[in-house]
Amino acid sequence: MRGRILEILREHAPGAVSGEDLARRLGLSRTAVWKHIAALRRDGYSIAAAPRSGYRLTGEGPDRLTAEAVQPLLTTAVLGRSFDCLTEVDSTNNRAKDLARAGAPEGTVVSAERQTGGRGRLGRSWYSPHGGLWFSVILRPDLDLIPARAPEATFMVAVAVADALRSYPGLSVGIKWPNDLVVGGRKLGGILTELAAEAERLEWLVVGIGLNVNIELEAFPPALREAAASVSALAGGPVDRARLLAEILQFLERWYRLWLAQGFGPVIAAWRERQECLGRRVRIFTGRGEWCGRALAVDDEGALLVERAPGVVQRVLSGDVLLEN
Ligand code: BTN
Repeated sequence: MRGRILEILREHAPGAVSGEDLARRLGLSRTAVWKHIAALRRDGYSIAAAPRSGYRLTGEGPDRLTAEAVQPLLTTAVLGRSFDCLTEVDSTNNRAKDLARAGAPEGTVVSAERQTGGRGRLGRSWYSPHGGLWFSVILRPDLDLIPARAPEATFMVAVAVADALRSYPGLSVGIKWPNDLVVGGRKLGGILTELAAEAERLEWLVVGIGLNVNIELEAFPPALREAAASVSALAGGPVDRARLLAEILQFLERWYRLWLAQGFGPVIAAWRERQECLGRRVRIFTGRGEWCGRALAVDDEGALLVERAPGVVQRVLSGDVLLEN
């Protein structure tokens, strides 16, 4: 039956076909049609639905991420209203930075099916095959936000993405300092924030979010496999990336506004509730080497306080954390 529905949608593409028409041609109820459409979407076909015109095949599946699939799902006012959806790019952050420099509006999203030069924090590369969510969002805080406050954004984004993921059953996502998304100690995703500032004013921020979504763990290179997690492995099957992206943007818009209106206080409080590293033995990697200690707390500026030796506490402002037990 799904094959027949696809055929009819293809006949009409790029136009739409009403649910009523589909139901009549196939001898089904409209609810049954709706259920088949939902199943096709789960299989990765992009089918847009509009109240008057009906269903429209906007992307040949399976599992293609398109603006047409995402935008109808958006409930945001700003984020994702301008959408650059690419098949392949070196890095969505690079592309978003180019667009930001050229004046692209706040909320512009750049996504790609795969990245050939995906970048992680601390100058690392980021494995970005087909099936993940690799996207970047341009933010232009409309306040005299000093560049020194930019790191706050990475905590804010981590909280927003964790909240979006936690709304999926089975995804008890936590945050590892400063902004890794982890499940059971394995990394599900990460965030790379970049910015441009003029004098003492933040001009724009590009927040790049990478999430292992529909990627089999076996597909990861051996060096990453042990430490990686994927949404599909945790959820027991592929998830609709367009829907997940729309949900993340919704949470992100909410947290972004809260951050602008109320400052870092509520953000870091929420971060502390979702974190999974305090009280643990950790190995700290900084540009200047690595050392071990116990993660004690995160202060009100987001720095990690680590006890290196009894009574010796070091404040870590940037670096990476490996949980040791
Ligand atoms: C990390 O090291 O944990 C951060 C990873 C961030 C990866 C994302 S994928 C989308 C965006 N484009 C990039 O090149 N990097 C970020």
